[in-house]
Amino acid sequence: MTQKPRHFISLLDLSTDEFRHLINRATELKKNRDPDFQPLKGQVLAMIFEKSSTRTRISFEAGMTHFGGSALFLSPRDTQLGRGEPLEDSAKVISSMVDCIMLRTFSHETVTTFAKHSSVPVINGLTELLHPCQLLADMQAYHEHNGDISGKTVTWIGDGNNMCHSYINAARVLDFKLNIACPDGYLPDHSIVNAAGNRVTLFNNTQQAAKNSDLIVTDVWASMGQEEEQIKREIAFKDFQVTCSTMDVANPDALFTHCLPAHRGEEVAAEVIDGPQSVVFNAAENRLHAQKALLEFLLCINRSKSIRNNEK
Ligand code: CP
Ligand code: NVA
Repeated sequence: MTQKPRHFISLLDLSTDEFRHLINRATELKKNRDPDFQPLKGQVLAMIFEKSSTRTRISFEAGMTHFGGSALFLSPRDTQLGRGEPLEDSAKVISSMVDCIMLRTFSHETVTTFAKHSSVPVINGLTELLHPCQLLADMQAYHEHNGDISGKTVTWIGDGNNMCHSYINAARVLDFKLNIACPDGYLPDHSIVNAAGNRVTLFNNTQQAAKNSDLIVTDVWASMGQEEEQIKREIAFKDFQVTCSTMDVANPDALFTHCLPAHRGEEVAAEVIDGPQSVVFNAAENRLHAQKALLEFLLCINRSKSIRNNEK
């Protein structure tokens, strides 16, 4: 029987030990860049982007090159995917030619359908529902600055979007408390919230949510694909900006992060994102190291292991 590949669609695909391994391995790879270490020599990653990207594209492409492999950038506009070729057929064909597939898509189902029909590992590079790769880098940044996040309190401020959902999943796997402050009508998916049990608390006031927190996180008010809602969202989110007074009620050594790109003066004040508690650029750089740890994990470590897939 052919073994099923190990995918990375959600953080829930990882055990706590595996998530911790990825954080530690990414930090190790960051400290010791060995050009002779080429575990993916000759291997190819296909990257399918329905949406724009700076960090995700560059980190995967550079990571594959560092490891001796290569990456193909594929946009639906230039492939038959954009002309309606069935996802099932595309997944079978593309996976017969490459060693791993990374997708950034609008619909989450596109990634899960691809995974179902792919003979090689599939990585979620962001969907409307989740952005698990960013959490690997964010959690690495927290660990590098302030140590183990388990038992700490993280506060999410803003939209209950893909990043928020991945923070909820990270709270489950790494066992931290998550306070979420969202305006009415922009709450995270209730089934994702409910599955996290008492680890997650919902607020509609940023100051209350941020009190005694160890990490404050936010994201844009209008995600990719929601550009036409910008004005409406600026009104709905006006009281959900991370400012110096938000940081003041958090713990004194609290950190701030954001997946980027950011809009200074909207979801975060410039004084915060460019201030001393911000780790955004470290987290952004960590995308490279975390991606390398993930590729090694999926393509080398897990190649001969059986899959445990607890994805929703
Ligand atoms: N944070 C993030 O995923 O950035 P990109 O959209 O630039 O890939
Ligand atoms: N929530 C944002 C994240 C960008 C990395 C979006 O989906 O556009």
